[in-house]
Amino acid sequence: MKDALMSSAIETLRTISLRCVECSTLYPGMEAGWKPRYRCDCGGVLDVELAPPTGAKGLRQLFDERASVPPTWPVNTGNILPDHSGVWRYRELILPVPGQYIVSRPEGNTGLYPVGTENCGAGRIGHRHIGSYAGLDHLFLKHEGENPTGSFKDRGMTVGVTMASLLGAQAVACASTGNTSASLASYAAQAGMRGIVFLPAGNVTVGKLAQSLAYGATTIQIDGDFDAAMQLVEQVCNELGIYLLNSLNPYRVEGQKSIGFELLQQLNWQAPDWLVLPAGNLGNTSAIGKAFRQAYQLSLISHMPRFASIQAAGANPFYRSFQQGFTMREPVQAQTVATAIKIGDPVSFTRARRVIEESNGLVEEVTDAEILAAKTIIDRSGLGCEPASAATLAGIRKLVERGVMKRDESVVGVLTGNLLKDTLTGIPQTGENLVVTASIEAVRRVLGQ
Ligand code: F0G
Repeated sequence: MKDALMSSAIETLRTISLRCVECSTLYPGMEAGWKPRYRCDCGGVLDVELAPPTGAKGLRQLFDERASVPPTWPVNTGNILPDHSGVWRYRELILPVPGQYIVSRPEGNTGLYPVGTENCGAGRIGHRHIGSYAGLDHLFLKHEGENPTGSFKDRGMTVGVTMASLLGAQAVACASTGNTSASLASYAAQAGMRGIVFLPAGNVTVGKLAQSLAYGATTIQIDGDFDAAMQLVEQVCNELGIYLLNSLNPYRVEGQKSIGFELLQQLNWQAPDWLVLPAGNLGNTSAIGKAFRQAYQLSLISHMPRFASIQAAGANPFYRSFQQGFTMREPVQAQTVATAIKIGDPVSFTRARRVIEESNGLVEEVTDAEILAAKTIIDRSGLGCEPASAATLAGIRKLVERGVMKRDESVVGVLTGNLLKDTLTGIPQTGENLVVTASIEAVRRVLGQ
């Protein structure tokens, strides 16, 4: 890591502390010698603590003003901060970093689609089918697949790579089921750093693998699952002095909080009754939960939504623990068609557990068949998503059927990844793919005319 940091960067790091989520020990944002710290001495993961901004009352207005600024090009040069980024727009609550270090595409600004049977406009009959399938009148889907590399990971990655740039890191690494690696590869390339990604061989879709290769990351497929890759990358980063960019890195979680801030802004700062999302390594549950907690503490919103984290039934350690009142925690051997959430031993377990408990939330599981059925509904509506994202809708439908979620409650579901991330799972079976001779007669026949 670089020795001579600019004084403004040092000031930024001085405002930050890292608190262990297990034993509450407090560490400085950056250790002496600029060696990054990802875990407490007790082994627990760390949470960024940033002094609350002064004048919290003006934050809503500030964020709204920034959101109304037309995008400028280039997005961030010199000291000009990228207000148009759906992450850095909220920088007072994320990382107040000097502008020249920010590595941004920009990201965020993803659609929030009204798809409930009552809140869906007349011109969107296709989207309305999602509300009917869910059994909800007021449902919104936040489509994080609209980020630059096609998943929500870009929101954490812009902050993680910015931190790496602040530290003068030459190389960054992660373990991934495919989306974090695609995002890391892209942002590392932008920042001129070496990207190194560890993937579970045979368990990453072709599209995601292609992204990390195309963006030029050193792509290492290991003979093991995601959990093994995660253990390995932590050891590699600690021993080889490479900057770690999994959600074990607390700054990445800070960036992912912006999903929560942005959707609140899109809802004019009215919190929904429920927030539903797919759950694998549990970074996103932790991050969006933290965003709502902070928004509530700063009186940006009047109540916390209830959180529902949805796991694939074959990769459900969080669900199993929830069923036992969180009195036990056991890894599982993960198995699901939704490879993005094929994770048996989630890193952010404790952070996410806090979110479920404090929001009076819950954890649900859905089968692969339920995930694929929900994916077909989302795809056919014209929105489309990758399989893991469809766990959100499958979970909502199940919770409505069980009477836990009421038809008239307002619900926001997060779609985490783009349809093009996985072009094989669930599509060939459902699509109408006809091959005919190039004649009007043949077309008439297949169209039934
Ligand atoms: N949805 C998608 C599309 C994902 O890629 C992931 C995680 C999740 C949901 C689960 O989010 O881990 O924060 O609970 N993908 C990681 C990766 C593990 O490596 O791309 P989580």
